[in-house]
Amino acid sequence: MKCVKVPLKQLNDIRIKLMEEGLMNMDFRIKAEKDYGFIPINDDVDGFEIVDIALEPIKKVPHSFSELLEDELTSDEIETLRTSFDTIGDIVILEIPENLESKKQIIGDAALKFTKRRSIYMKRSAIKGTTRVRDLEFLSGVDDSVTIHREHGARLKLDVREVYFSPRLATERKRVMESVRDGEKILDMFCGIGPFPIVIARNKDADIVAVDINESAIRYLNENIKLNKLKGHIETYTGDINEVSKGFKCKFDRIIMNLPGLAYTFLDLAVDLIEDDGIINYYEFSDSYETGIKRLKDACLRKNKEVEIINAHKVKSTSPGEWHIAIDGKIKNT
Ligand SMILES: C[S@@+](CC[C@H](N)C(=O)[O-])C[C@H]1O[C@@H](n2cnc3c(N)ncnc32)[C@H](O)[C@@H]1O
Repeated sequence: MKCVKVPLKQLNDIRIKLMEEGLMNMDFRIKAEKDYGFIPINDDVDGFEIVDIALEPIKKVPHSFSELLEDELTSDEIETLRTSFDTIGDIVILEIPENLESKKQIIGDAALKFTKRRSIYMKRSAIKGTTRVRDLEFLSGVDDSVTIHREHGARLKLDVREVYFSPRLATERKRVMESVRDGEKILDMFCGIGPFPIVIARNKDADIVAVDINESAIRYLNENIKLNKLKGHIETYTGDINEVSKGFKCKFDRIIMNLPGLAYTFLDLAVDLIEDDGIINYYEFSDSYETGIKRLKDACLRKNKEVEIINAHKVKSTSPGEWHIAIDGKIKNT
C-alpha cells in the first residue's frame, strides 16, 4: 500500500491536512511505529517520503438499507422498498415488486441486517377474505410469525400469519382512545387482536365488548388482556357480529367499526345498538368523505334517527387516490 512516512509527532497534523485535501486513502488503517507513522494515500504526494508497506484494510460497515443494496438495486427501487416496510414487534413485512422477485433473498437479508429485527417476511397476497389476513413468505432470520408489538405502552401479541394487524393505525387508535370518557360502554364490532380495546382500556375506565369472527384473533386478544394492566374491562366474543349481537342486553355509548371494506353493511345494526347521543367510529375505503357520510345518514334515516358528523379525516393512503377514511357520527333519536 502506498503511504507517506511521517515523524510520529506530526502524524495527526499531516493526517488532517491529507484528509482535507482528499489525498488520504480512507479504506486502510494508519500504522504507527516507534518513530514514524504511515498514512495511506491515493496518489503520490509532493514533499513527503513515499513508501510501500502492508496496511490493514478498514472493514466498511454499511450504515443504511440503501448502502446494503446499492450494488444490487437502483436508488428508486430501494426507496420504493423502504416505504413498504411494516414493522410489527420483531417482525418486518416487506412488499417486493414483481420485477425484483429474483432479488428477494438479498433484499430480505439486507432488511434483516438493517432493521436488526428477528424475522423478515414478504407479502404474497393482498389482505383478503372475511378474516382480512394476507399470505406471507418467510425470507430471512427466524421463521416464527408470533410476536409482541408495542403501541402507546400497550403489548399486543399476535401471529402475523393468522390475524389482521396494522401498525399504521396507531395514531388513529390513540385519537379514538383520547376521545373516550371514563365509564363509556363500548362495542368494537370487528376487534381483531384488540388494539382498540387494549389501548382504550389501558387508559380509560371503559366497559368494552369486543367481537371478532376470527377465533385466533380472539385467542390473542384474551392473551393481550392478561399481558396489559387495564383500567377498564374487556369482554370478548368469537363469532359474526350479526349473530353475537342478538345476545346483547344493553346499548352502547360508542361503537367502533374498523372493517373498512364492508363496515357500511353493518351500519343498520350499529344504529340499532347505539345509545342516544352515542358515537359511531365508522371506517371505509374511499376517495372522499361524501359516500361514508351519506351511508351513515341513510342508515339513521332508516331507523328514524339523526346523525351529527363530528369528524371526518384520512387515516392512511391505501392506493393512489384511495384512503382509509374515518368518520365519527353522533347518533340522536328524533
Ligand atoms: C380490518 S380488521 C380490523 C381489526 C382491528 N379492529 C384492528 O384495528 O386491528 C377487521 C376484522 O373484522 C373481523 N370480521 C370480519 N367480518 C366479521 C363479522 N361479520 N363479525 C365479526 N368480525 C368480523 C375480521 O376477522 C378482522 O379481524
